Amino acid sequence: MYNAKAYSAASASSRLAATKISRRDPAEHDVQIDILYCGICHSDLHQVRDEWSGVMPTVYPCVPGHEIVGRVTKVGSAVRKFKAGDLAAVGCMVDSDRTCPECKAGMEQFCPNFTLTYNFPDKLSGGVTYGGYSESIVVDENFVLHVPANLQPAGAAPLLCAGITTYSPMHHWKVGKGKKVGIVGLGGLGHMGVKFAHALGAHVVVFTTSPKKKEDALRLGADEVVVSNDANSMQKHAGSFDFILDAVSADHDINAYLNMLRRDGHVVMVGAPEKPLAVSVFSLIMGRRSLSGSPIGGIAETQEMLDFCGKHNIVSDVEVIPIQKVNEAYERLLRSDVKYRFSIDMASLKAE
Ligand SMILES: NC(=O)c1ccc[n+]([C@@H]2O[C@H](COP(=O)([O-])OP(=O)(O)OC[C@H]3O[C@@H](n4cnc5c(N)ncnc54)[C@H](OP(=O)(O)O)[C@@H]3O)[C@@H](O)[C@H]2O)c1
Ligand SMILES: [Zn+2]
Ligand SMILES: [Zn+2]
Repeated sequence: MYNAKAYSAASASSRLAATKISRRDPAEHDVQIDILYCGICHSDLHQVRDEWSGVMPTVYPCVPGHEIVGRVTKVGSAVRKFKAGDLAAVGCMVDSDRTCPECKAGMEQFCPNFTLTYNFPDKLSGGVTYGGYSESIVVDENFVLHVPANLQPAGAAPLLCAGITTYSPMHHWKVGKGKKVGIVGLGGLGHMGVKFAHALGAHVVVFTTSPKKKEDALRLGADEVVVSNDANSMQKHAGSFDFILDAVSADHDINAYLNMLRRDGHVVMVGAPEKPLAVSVFSLIMGRRSLSGSPIGGIAETQEMLDFCGKHNIVSDVEVIPIQKVNEAYERLLRSDVKYRFSIDMASLKAE
């Protein structure tokens, strides 16, 4: 084991602060990575503040971060896919059983025995896993991704969660040319959703509570923008969407979006608000509409998404911050005041 600098929260009401954590030395299949950038996902905030206590209660101290890009420093003797000096990435999972039907189908995100990157029982070292708000991480090579060389690392980091979480459902529900697609909430996930839906050739409509984001939405690839508290503009789209991706982090009226679907359309939740949403069954019955959810994506699909981003020159729009600003960044995230993802420059951790 070795010590690594990190930022952790000591309780649901604590600010994140500098600490040291233990990491395992790389074993034969492991890749050791010096972390260059780690994105700040709203899930980090939910988890740090124990807002998902009913589903995945937080174990403290908690070191969040699952949007990791870094440089490989060391590899185990059996590692074939990476070598020291490579640019590499780690997302929301660091292991799975690799034997269940989900793993065999390449959908590790549904493995009953997966290991999430942080706040999850660590089967190898004991305790819980620690995430990317840290100077380095050690991960099995099968859960490490290659980053296309043309993508700048600070903007590539958020692809590992915000990217794959929006790419995967669009792939599954066949978003493409001729489809009318809605994106609800122009945050970290939402703005990636807009970029992907646009690149896939769909007609993209953004629903936002923030009128000041209108121009950005169009620049990011939206064809239309609707401010969601404007009832008239909302009414114009009733019954017209094939697919709506809901990336909102807080309580909101889901029925407004279900009613915008055409026959057999889908609203897919990727946002994970703390409290249950109230669903009017009539919104579903009328039009045989579906409401679904989707978690991150599999490892092969994550690589496919990164390669797609390489080909289309897609990265996240980021505001790069030093780790010392992480608590302020969380407050700004709650005010929807980020364009459109914070990416932590992990070199700043050296000052701690
Ligand atoms: N399914 C998964 O695997 C997965 C993966 C990652 C994240 N998540 C979840 O996805 C959600 C979004 O994450 P994120 O990192 O994109 O967060 P984010 O950057 O904070 O974006 C959330 C957006 O939701 C909108 N919003 C916030 N409060 C709202 C309210 N009260 N009513 C209506 N809209 C509101 C805002 O957009 P506007 O300003 O445009 O209205 C905001 O920018 C979080 O709950 C996160 O935990 C799920
Ligand atoms: Zn995330
Ligand atoms: Zn499995």
